[in-house]
Amino acid sequence: MQNRQLGTTGPHVSAIGLGCMGMSAMYGTGVDRAESIATIHAALDAGVTLLDTGDFYGMGHNELLINEALRTAPAAHRERALTSVKFGALRGPDGAWVGHDGRPAAIKNFLAYSLQRLGTDHIDIYRIARLDPAVPIEETVGAIAEAVQAGYVRHIGLSEVGAETIRRAAAVAPISDLQIEYSLVARGIEDEILPVCRELGIGLTPYGVLSRGLISGHWNRERTTDAQDFRNRAPRFQGENLDRNLELVEALRKIADARGVSVAQIAIAWVLAQGVRRSTAIVPLVGSRRRDQLAEALGALDVTLDADDLAAIEEAVPADAAAGARYPEAQMAALDSEKK
Ligand SMILES: NC(=O)c1ccc[n+]([C@@H]2O[C@H](COP(=O)([O-])OP(=O)(O)OC[C@H]3O[C@@H](n4cnc5c(N)ncnc54)[C@H](OP(=O)(O)O)[C@@H]3O)[C@@H](O)[C@H]2O)c1
Repeated sequence: MQNRQLGTTGPHVSAIGLGCMGMSAMYGTGVDRAESIATIHAALDAGVTLLDTGDFYGMGHNELLINEALRTAPAAHRERALTSVKFGALRGPDGAWVGHDGRPAAIKNFLAYSLQRLGTDHIDIYRIARLDPAVPIEETVGAIAEAVQAGYVRHIGLSEVGAETIRRAAAVAPISDLQIEYSLVARGIEDEILPVCRELGIGLTPYGVLSRGLISGHWNRERTTDAQDFRNRAPRFQGENLDRNLELVEALRKIADARGVSVAQIAIAWVLAQGVRRSTAIVPLVGSRRRDQLAEALGALDVTLDADDLAAIEEAVPADAAAGARYPEAQMAALDSEKK
């Protein structure tokens, strides 16, 4: 497995990271715990070192799952695993999203619970999931920097924030990486946010590189989702938007078929290729929750795309071609990265 350093000050991590969210939350209830753990083990075995989670993914469920997977992994794999944890999202007992909390005292509390659930004495990268509009980013990052000083956290990350917030955060303490949605159908970061990351020496750990399964090549109109599935409400998965977006996937499939690879592999390889093209460490977090999905996703590392390939892919899926916003309206409003 190739490695990349996240930014100029961040950790060295595998070229692809594993996002564990879907093993506990967001994509419906039909998740197999044993298969989730086997998937984490398979990822570690393949050389994946970066495991991403959030304390609010299943209200602690995801951190406890990672704890179990690491405890039952071979020692050598466990020792090289790095945890990236998001905090700050507030949930109700019914799962409702009820705000964000980036106050220093709250961060101490979130961190104490995460360390306990993960069964570790430190977190490798710690970040607030969404900017708390009531707390200046300087205070939030300053509180994480204190946790770094105290040895509880190794690196500071950011999530879904815009260029100005990135600059303000980086003025307080070194930032390893920005986590943000980036894919063939979510390219809004290319004009301003990506250049700021490059300028400040901040890496990128994009999520949604398969647009939550939409551009995996495995989604279709007949796919049913349960009430707990985010895709039930996600604009890109609805009605005419879905029809339009699946047309883009079919255009991509022609390119994948000609290369003898899968649509998901082309989509992930395109994101990987942006790292070279844009001189930034870009480490996609793939949301595989089964071993077959993981094997497919890691296969993207063997797909090299030259300038002609990239041009053909971008002709098949032009920037801004996707129909529908990437989040429902209320969640879009919470994204500092989307503020104009
Ligand atoms: N910072 C943030 O705001 C934020 C937001 C969201 C996620 N994240 C992080 O980023 C990670 C990745 O995000 P994501 O899960 O939304 O991204 P994703 O990789 O675009 O979507 C994952 C979904 O795609 C489908 N899929 C089909 N084939 C796949 C394959 N070969 N490999 C992987 N998935 C395949 C699966 O759905 P089915 O199993 O239903 O087919 C899977 O649940 C998350 O796990 C989380 O750690 C961060």
